[in-house]
Amino acid sequence: MASTPRTDGARALDAATVSAALDAALQTVQRNITLHGDAYPDDTTRGDRYQIRPAIPGFPVGANRGWTTSFWVGQQWLAWELTGDEQYRAAAQRHAVDFAQRVRAEHDLDTHDLGFLYSLGSLTAARLAESEAERADARDAGLDAAEHLMRRFLEPAGIIQAWGDLSDPQQSGRTIIDSLMNMPLLTWAHEQTGDERFADAVRRHTAQLREHILRPDNSTFHTFYWDTVTGEPLRGATEQGAFDDSCWARGQAWGVYGFAINYRATGDERLLESAWRCAEYFLSHLPADGVPYWDLVYTDENPAPRDSSAAAIAACGFLELARVDPDAERAARAHALAETLVADLIAGYTPAQPGDADGLLLHSVYDLPKDNGVDEGTLWGDYFYLEALTRLVRPEWVTYW
Ligand code: GLY
Repeated sequence: MASTPRTDGARALDAATVSAALDAALQTVQRNITLHGDAYPDDTTRGDRYQIRPAIPGFPVGANRGWTTSFWVGQQWLAWELTGDEQYRAAAQRHAVDFAQRVRAEHDLDTHDLGFLYSLGSLTAARLAESEAERADARDAGLDAAEHLMRRFLEPAGIIQAWGDLSDPQQSGRTIIDSLMNMPLLTWAHEQTGDERFADAVRRHTAQLREHILRPDNSTFHTFYWDTVTGEPLRGATEQGAFDDSCWARGQAWGVYGFAINYRATGDERLLESAWRCAEYFLSHLPADGVPYWDLVYTDENPAPRDSSAAAIAACGFLELARVDPDAERAARAHALAETLVADLIAGYTPAQPGDADGLLLHSVYDLPKDNGVDEGTLWGDYFYLEALTRLVRPEWVTYW
């Protein structure tokens, strides 16, 4: 059963609270740069401390691999935009060079998360780097990444395969709700090149998710399979949620934000309605303190670890809806909902003092069924929390998505 729905604007958020939260977050970003240098921290903290990404076959310690490294770079770009302090841009730019190398060397690219990786790792630098040469190099890397992502577009299903080698039968024909956030790389590539393949892939992939991954009750499947030969939709399933038919909290938050940004990209009003449908389900399944359990099947009567990163992503989604929804009343409601989520996060899910933890945001879950990153900080939770704060203090902030 759903928990008591949160009322809009349940917790007030004032400018001084946001400013103090931002100061604390920036102190932690600075501290993490000092701690890690140009190496990449791991996906999540362990005991609230980030370790450098461990070595695995083919990749040395601290290497740029996996799907989360760009969230660390994104934090550095946000910090530069917020402060103008060149140490942040210099750090982010060194990573942009590394992201260009990664795509050119074809290191660990068998994933739809090229969108997460290159929106923050390269497209930021293509716009914000200091020199024309740096911007041009990042743009080229972004276009290479978009071409790689297009290799995962499956005909006749009209979807982008999420994970694995395209010949892997376990992963064949499967996409996931998170993929909505990978579309901006293709939207950008269309804007840069005028090549309609990119825009067509965005339109078709998002239409398939709207029709099949979003359920009639407004919850979402985490993942969904299509028949790669006939293109027929097959079945939903989970990977990181509690049950195939439950609703993984972070997936629902990806739905809020992802449908909203793809509405902006395509102008398709059905995507705007899909974002709101995801939002209403998310809101009506929040516990009393406003931060979801890691799967929305859990309630205050039947609790489980929280996923604060889902709240941070949803807050950014609401702030996007506040910008793009043409209905002024709904836009205002979206803004109030975002403020409430951020206020709840600041009040209960941030370190008491910068330095108490390496994460900007505490108490997230990466993958509970695999006992990976449970009740820890995460690179993406930190990034979206900082993005939400940035959006609140800089309404004119130009989105990275
Ligand atoms: N995109 C993978 C996750 O949210 O865990």
